[in-house]
Amino acid sequence: MEKMTGGDLNSPETMRDIISFYKRLAAQKESLIRLDDFYGMGGAWIAFRHDDVSAMLKDPRLVKDMRKYVPQNEPEAAGASTYVGKLLEWLRNMPNMLSVDPPDHTRLRRLASKAFTPQMIEGLRPRIQQIADELLDAVQERGRMDLVADFAYPLPIIVISEILGIPAADRSLFRGWTQKLLQAAVDSSQGSAVEEALEEFIGYIRTLLDEKRRNPGTDVTSGLVQAYEQGDKLSENELLSTIWLLIIAGHETTVNLIGNGTLALLRHPGQMRLLRETPSLLPGAVEEMLRMEGPIVIASRFAGEDIAMHGKVIRQGEMVLLSLAAANVDPQKFSDADTLDITREENEHLAFGKGIHLCLGAPLARLEGQIAFGTLLRRLPDLRLAVEPERLVYNHGKLRSLTSLPVLF
Ligand code: HEM
Repeated sequence: MEKMTGGDLNSPETMRDIISFYKRLAAQKESLIRLDDFYGMGGAWIAFRHDDVSAMLKDPRLVKDMRKYVPQNEPEAAGASTYVGKLLEWLRNMPNMLSVDPPDHTRLRRLASKAFTPQMIEGLRPRIQQIADELLDAVQERGRMDLVADFAYPLPIIVISEILGIPAADRSLFRGWTQKLLQAAVDSSQGSAVEEALEEFIGYIRTLLDEKRRNPGTDVTSGLVQAYEQGDKLSENELLSTIWLLIIAGHETTVNLIGNGTLALLRHPGQMRLLRETPSLLPGAVEEMLRMEGPIVIASRFAGEDIAMHGKVIRQGEMVLLSLAAANVDPQKFSDADTLDITREENEHLAFGKGIHLCLGAPLARLEGQIAFGTLLRRLPDLRLAVEPERLVYNHGKLRSLTSLPVLF
């Protein structure tokens, strides 16, 4: 039987065809597969069936805080100059809610969550609509655009920047830094590029925090700065790392929901027509795109203790990869799992994870997706691909993302 490697999980071929990837996993005839090495971090396990992944996301024995296992995953062992080595070193000093467990997780998430309630997010609807319209105003006359660069990328970055009180002129900086971090995750020769990108990114946030201390506003960054100054609710590094996480998670994921989702509609003209004619289907359509085209393909954890499962033992400290993308097309869970059906009623997908780390930005991502697809279909009735689908290229990185999506309209 064909052996899986760490590289298979993120390859452009996997990103292009998640269904075939799922079939390859299922063909191994084991529910829990061991990889000999995952990007220099040693052995890792991968789970991919919906019921397993769903249960494991909620299992308190599977933890996030890699600092607890550093003796086993020493930066030196991974090679201090590799991405993994740098990231381990960095996360050791810069914890955020996605890299820690309770009680720290509870404290850090509570502080940020006030700004991301469904009610707060719904209040942003008119502004997000305005941004979507302005982006299309800028290209409408041209009759063509790169949907990723001209629409899917700027929309979420403008929104999260406004939430965080980041000046408009600075937004273009983030893509370069984030791309370097994500690309380097699958290319171990990128150690120094990662270090540089992290340093510049964090340096930028430090300056932003100083500015918010001097001139506080009503934005989320000012709110977190005040929480920091009013007591010991979060440390300076936690504050920095939280803003960093919100910037990255707040844009790089939604870009790809919009890009991948639009491509899915273009490849399924019947579904696109139905959605254009029945905009009330938008919420369900976004859920279906999250299921089949979700940008985060894998969530990772560490075993906090030895865990027996499917006749195997995951040893304490070992890495566990949960394939959200494969679970989302598991035929045991979804009928016609490999069919895009925007009218699907039962859609318990795992694109936002589950349990205590369930995506904090899910209401925002859903709203951005609904507005983005709704506006594209309403304003561009003749939207079509400008190239053959086979010529589209997926990035080799941690996210399922298209390098570009040329369209005509
Ligand atoms: C389509 C877009 C998005 C997808 C698919 C997505 C997916 C995810 C997933 C799968 C997780 C959990 C990871 C794990 O369990 O290891 C997560 C966590 C998180 N997401 Fe999102 N996300 C999206 C958009 C956003 C946005 C717009 C924000 C904006 C603030 C955001 C903020 C976060 C944060 C802060 C966490 C950490 C939550 C915690 O650890 O408690 N995400 N996201």
